[in-house]
Amino acid sequence: MMKEGRPRVLTRPQEIQAAVKAYRADGLTTGVVPTMGALHEGHISLVKAANAACDITIATIFVNPAQFAPTEDLATYPRTLTTDLEMLASNDVDLVFVPANAEMYPDGFSTYVEPPAVAKRWEGESRPGFFRGVATVVLKLFHLIPTDMAFFGQKDFQQALVIRRMVEDLNVPIEIRTQPTVREADGLAMSSRNRYLSQPEREQSLALSRGLAMARSMAEGGERSGKAMVDGVRRVLTEAGIHAIDYVAVADPETLEPVAEVTGPVVVLIAARVGTTRLIDNAVVGPAVS
Ligand code: PAF
Repeated sequence: MMKEGRPRVLTRPQEIQAAVKAYRADGLTTGVVPTMGALHEGHISLVKAANAACDITIATIFVNPAQFAPTEDLATYPRTLTTDLEMLASNDVDLVFVPANAEMYPDGFSTYVEPPAVAKRWEGESRPGFFRGVATVVLKLFHLIPTDMAFFGQKDFQQALVIRRMVEDLNVPIEIRTQPTVREADGLAMSSRNRYLSQPEREQSLALSRGLAMARSMAEGGERSGKAMVDGVRRVLTEAGIHAIDYVAVADPETLEPVAEVTGPVVVLIAARVGTTRLIDNAVVGPAVS
């Protein structure tokens, strides 16, 4: 059901902070869904989780320059504000914060968050500076939007862990909730960057979810070698013609350190380029419990 006059769209930091404080002063619980726009059903699942858990749902749309390397797609990152706002309106969002770059990073801005240890490997190695940019903007958003809860997708497994650790380490009084990855019917994890894929690339990209399914059946079938699982997933990718693999990892889901012997749940992480589009995916798998 669409709420009358909703969502309110605010662009100034002072306005959003005052609005959130006012909700909380009225005794209402609030949840935020931080996004970079180009919304899809994955984002909407976070909105629905916020709607279910909180009285007031807030979304943010900000393509954060601090998390893009100079070689990455900041200039061409999809910007679809009108449809984003329509999607948020039809999913009961109360407030949307859409700041300009100059509001978030005014002249003279020079303070950044040093991300936690879980940021070092995988995305941290492939995209130097990425988690510094993510942690900085998310902490800024948490100060501007002092909510009860914040919602992130498991599709960005390492990002969710980095944010969780940052919040614990820096005593940010916001509960972090992570929601399951939303997939297309054929298994492709939803991502704003999927729209870059041509039809043949779209088919090739299904190798990521197939690789994860293979890792799951290896673990459940009794495979204990992390390396054998990594090799198995890499084979699925290369057989599909995906050779630009940033990493395939079998790692501890809490520390993200590589696991040599699989004795419990592990996270399988993949990052690979299909054509010019960089995709990531992951799954938590482990030995079958009898
Ligand atoms: O996952 C994203 O869309 C972004 O990294 C986030 C968390 C909104 C920070 O810019």
